Amino acid sequence: PVRYISNNSSGKMGYALVEAAVEAGAETVLISGPVNISPSKRAKTIYVKSAKEMHVAAMKEATDCQLFIACAAVADYRPKQKLKQKLKKTDTSMNIDLIKNSDIVTDVAALSNSPFTVGFAAETPETTDCLEKLAREKLQRKKLDLIIANDVSIPAIGFDSDYNAVLVIDHDSSEMIAKTSKTILSRQLIVKISQMLKIKNKAL
Ligand code: C5P
Repeated sequence: PVRYISNNSSGKMGYALVEAAVEAGAETVLISGPVNISPSKRAKTIYVKSAKEMHVAAMKEATDCQLFIACAAVADYRPKQKLKQKLKKTDTSMNIDLIKNSDIVTDVAALSNSPFTVGFAAETPETTDCLEKLAREKLQRKKLDLIIANDVSIPAIGFDSDYNAVLVIDHDSSEMIAKTSKTILSRQLIVKISQMLKIKNKAL
């Protein structure tokens, strides 16, 4: 009831993507964890508190959409036990048993009628080549259509910043988008994704 485990993320990138999608004319649903940003008046917003709740909401919404963008920094593990009373401090160290959360974007991409699925990869690579390698491995393993990678070890971009610089990676190519505001970046990403969606729909 008092403590929790979470990931470092402000939600700014996801909320900016929602605005860009709405501006582009898409009927948009935002599934949001607890953040300090006012919701868009133009998108339906579903609030969730845990990775489990986000999984349930995402699987429901994803069965009926063309595009799924997984931008949330979902926790990979949750405590095995949820306590009713506050956990008191006793010894100088303690261990908490964690169990793995289901990977939402992997499960959405595996749906029989899966939407065009876009993942994010926040990495702390030694080089840009290394960033691409790490993200490409994720693109393939999670069977995504596109992955957007960013280097979160650069302080001026990424976590809690209004700016970001990303590497956009699909199965054939990659493209660097230099540092810009999350608002502008989101518009560029939505344009790129809609072009890819059109090509995919034509091929079907
Ligand atoms: O494997 P990693 O967590 O680094 O992958 C990041 C991508 O996976 C992001 O798109 C994130 O939203 C998604 N993810 C997810 N469910 C989780 C963990 C991550 O959908 N439980």
